[in-house]
Amino acid sequence: MRLEDTLNKILIVDFGSQFTQLIARKIRELGIYCEIISHKSIEKRKNFDKNIKGIVLSGGPLNVYENKKVKFNYNLLKLEIPVLGICFGHQIISKVMGGKVKSSKFREFGLAEVKEIKKSKLTKNFFSNKKNNVWMSHADQVTKLPKNFNVIAKSKNSKMCIIENKKKNMFGIQFHPEVSHTNKGKIILRNFIFSICKLTKNWSASDQKKKLVSEVRDIVGNSKVICALSGGVDSSVVAKLLSNAIGKKLTCIFVNTGLLRKGEEKQVINTFKKRFKINLIYVNAENLFLSKLKNISDPERKRKIIGNLFIKIFEKYAKKIKKVKFLAQGTLYPDLIESKSVTGSQTSKIKSHHNVGGLPKKMKLKLVEPLKYLFKDEVRKLGLEIGLNKEIISRHPFPGPGLAIRMPGNISKEKIKILKEADNYFIKSLKDNNLYDKIWQAYAALLPVKTVGVMGDNRTYEYVCLLRAITSEDGMTADFFQFNKTFMQSVSNQIINNIRGVNRVVYDITSKPPSTIELE
Ligand code: XMP
Repeated sequence: MRLEDTLNKILIVDFGSQFTQLIARKIRELGIYCEIISHKSIEKRKNFDKNIKGIVLSGGPLNVYENKKVKFNYNLLKLEIPVLGICFGHQIISKVMGGKVKSSKFREFGLAEVKEIKKSKLTKNFFSNKKNNVWMSHADQVTKLPKNFNVIAKSKNSKMCIIENKKKNMFGIQFHPEVSHTNKGKIILRNFIFSICKLTKNWSASDQKKKLVSEVRDIVGNSKVICALSGGVDSSVVAKLLSNAIGKKLTCIFVNTGLLRKGEEKQVINTFKKRFKINLIYVNAENLFLSKLKNISDPERKRKIIGNLFIKIFEKYAKKIKKVKFLAQGTLYPDLIESKSVTGSQTSKIKSHHNVGGLPKKMKLKLVEPLKYLFKDEVRKLGLEIGLNKEIISRHPFPGPGLAIRMPGNISKEKIKILKEADNYFIKSLKDNNLYDKIWQAYAALLPVKTVGVMGDNRTYEYVCLLRAITSEDGMTADFFQFNKTFMQSVSNQIINNIRGVNRVVYDITSKPPSTIELE
């Protein structure tokens, strides 16, 4: 039985809101296990898990009056389990329970003030002086209160902003308690899961560690497992967790594509082979990758060539290890969630992502995916719990195709050398200035243009180095980070003064969308 099936949980029904994952992360941060399920996929379900102790209905782009019958399992509202509806969830509860929802004359987007009208368990400690600032995003509003409900709070454009049916433990809120702009929003979620659903904490990194280790042992038995190690956070956590669980029955394969960050191969070998004594096959395929990528400038072709080569190498070495039955992958929970946000599905079509985890099905190995019910921040906490150091855990994401997609145009040894150095100066400066952990991802790229410069009275004609640093929640949307002038000047000077081949440094000030995080 899966660990997750044994835990009491909150079920989050997703109606397509861009914040659904945020609800789940906030609930898990509070120490309670929860799962997200699409509203469509449960429409016809007859039985629900006995471990569901509370239900959250998310927001979403639908409206209850035009979409005559929104696909949803209406029996969920008859189970006598506490229900919290957020935004669209609030409207669907209101409609189903006999109230009315209409398109609003005035839309409310952004910050709004709510006023307390009546005390409720849900809003204990939420208001100060009967007021609070919250984040709204709605064009519809509840106009008639359903039977047996009370109004707990109102806002200027939403007279029934928080409602409750005390007897049924059913609540609706028009604003979003899960977003950080809602002041003390987490208190609402905390009141709901602890005082109303009466759950006790069951989800911490150390619980996960113990249970995942024993689960992996049960699944694997006496068989052998292989794992593609990239040095990134997810595959590192999978490798260490498996090594803790099954020791020498695990073999990791690490491919040096020649397109890694400076010193990356040394760090992986030192950590996993020397320090943790994990079976590690190191494949130096630098020349192979570079020869296959020669004169290739199309971004998609680069990605395909790298992905295919990687698979070939992995298959070759996997075959050499006899009696392998399992392949370990660092699949995360967001990869599994059925109804991804709009931005999520758009992103995946824009570039063909290559991840070392995405190995071919024809290998006929069974999968071990111990992280598949975890979010990235949970994986980081688990990593620390199982003994990985902070340096590995807090590393910025690095794409599977590596530096190849950070140098638009042809790839050459000279460009790779310049790029590794420039990136290293940038990242080192971020660390020295305590900025690294404030930034979600940062890197240097090399643009395929040369420009004129003057150095020591001489004309130069060299490459342009582009720096990118972004803040983000999950990589789906991003904003550029604002550095101060002294920092930027110092990084620019270090790059120009120390690296031959670059005479200009520029900073990327676009957000995502419209740009993407990587250049290709
Ligand atoms: P984009 O450029 O699509 O990147 O905005 C979003 C995030 O995904 C990473 N990325 C990749 N990761 N294989 C990966 O494992 C890939 O092919 C790939 N392409 C982009 C990127 O670094 C950013 O964190």
